[in-house]
Amino acid sequence: MAFLDIKNITKRFDKQTALNNVSVSIRKGEFVCILGPSGCGKTTLLRIIAGLEPANNGRVFIDGKEATFLPAAKRNFGIVFQSYALFPNMTVMENILFGLQQRKEFSKDQRLDKAFNALRLVDLFEHRNKYPRELSGGMQQRTALARAIALSPAFLLLDEPLSALDAKVRQKLRREIRAIQQSLGITTIMVTHDQEEALTMADRIIVMNNAVVEQIGTPREIYDHPATPFVASFIGTMNFYRSGGETCAIRPENVEITGRQDVYDFKARVRTLEFKGPMTRVYGTLPDTSEICMDIPSERMAELSLNENGFVFLRMPPDSITKYAGAAAI
Ligand SMILES: Nc1ncnc2c1ncn2[C@@H]1O[C@H](COP(=O)(O)OP(=O)(O)OP(=O)(O)O)[C@@H](O)[C@H]1O
Ligand SMILES: [Mg+2]
Repeated sequence: MAFLDIKNITKRFDKQTALNNVSVSIRKGEFVCILGPSGCGKTTLLRIIAGLEPANNGRVFIDGKEATFLPAAKRNFGIVFQSYALFPNMTVMENILFGLQQRKEFSKDQRLDKAFNALRLVDLFEHRNKYPRELSGGMQQRTALARAIALSPAFLLLDEPLSALDAKVRQKLRREIRAIQQSLGITTIMVTHDQEEALTMADRIIVMNNAVVEQIGTPREIYDHPATPFVASFIGTMNFYRSGGETCAIRPENVEITGRQDVYDFKARVRTLEFKGPMTRVYGTLPDTSEICMDIPSERMAELSLNENGFVFLRMPPDSITKYAGAAAI
C-alpha cells in the first residue's frame, strides 16, 4: 500500500496552472526525486503534500488516511529548503532544539537526547556550539537536515537542499543524505532540477514538465525507456532522427561504428572529436543533415583512426532505439 497517495491534484494561481491533474503514489521507505525544469510545478507539489498550500482539486492520503484538509502541523513531516533558513542568532544545537521545544510531550532530557542523536547522524556533534556564520554551506545544510529529522517525522521533504552548494560538497552530501535516509528507512521526497542528482540518489524519479507528470520510474527505466520525447531529451544526451514517419531516439553510447561497409544504417560525416578520458565523443552529421553524437571507448578509437570530415558507417541496434509516433517536437 502507498504511504503517500496524491490523487488528481490540480493547482492554479490566477490563470497559471502549476499542477494539472497530478497523481503519484509513494511507498513507505522510498526515496523519490521530483525532477523537472524551472517552473514545472515541483515546489508546488511538495507544498501540497506538506499541507502548506491548498489544491483546487484532488486528494492527498497519508498512510492510508485522507489528509487533503489536514493542517501542515498534523502531517508529521520534516522539511529542508534550498536556502538554509537557520536562525542566525542561535547555535547549531539551539537551532535543532527549537522545533523540539514545541513538543511538550517530551521531557527536557528526551529533547536533548533527540537533538544529540540528530547531531551525531549528520556528523555535527563537535560543532554543536557554533553559529551558522561559522559553518560552511554544507554544514549549514546538514544542520537544517538534523533539525528536520530530530523529531523522527514519518516522512521527509527536501526542496533543492543541495543547489546552493558547490559541486564537490554537493556530491558528498548526496551520499550522506542517502545513507541517513536508508539508515532511518524514512520515506523521502526530494525536489531537484539536477538530473545527475536524481539518477544517483533516487529509488524512483517523477519527471515533471509544464505542470504534468511525464514519467515515474526507476533511474534505469527513465534512462533506458524514456516514455516521452521530453523525458528522452531532458535526461542524459539523446540523438533523435526521423525514420518512416516515426521519431527515433538513441543514446550516444549505443550508436555503433562498424567496419563493415555492407551492413549499416547510416553513413555519417565526422565533424569533431572530443577526448573525454575513458571514451571519446564523436560528433557527426547524418545524410539528412541532422546531428549525431557517439561515445566510443577510447581504446576502440585507436583501431578506428577517424578523421575530421571523414565518413563512418553507423549501426543503430534495434534494442537501443526508442520510437515515438509522428514527428515529435524535440
Ligand atoms: N504563490 C504563487 N503565486 C503565483 N504563482 C505561483 C506561486 N507559486 C508558484 N507559482 C507559479 O506556479 C508555477 C510552478 O511553480 P513552482 O514553484 O512549483 O515551480 P518549480 O518547479 O519549483 O520551479 P523552480 O525549479 O524554479 O523552483 C510557476 O509558473 C510559478 O510562477
Ligand atoms: Mg521550486
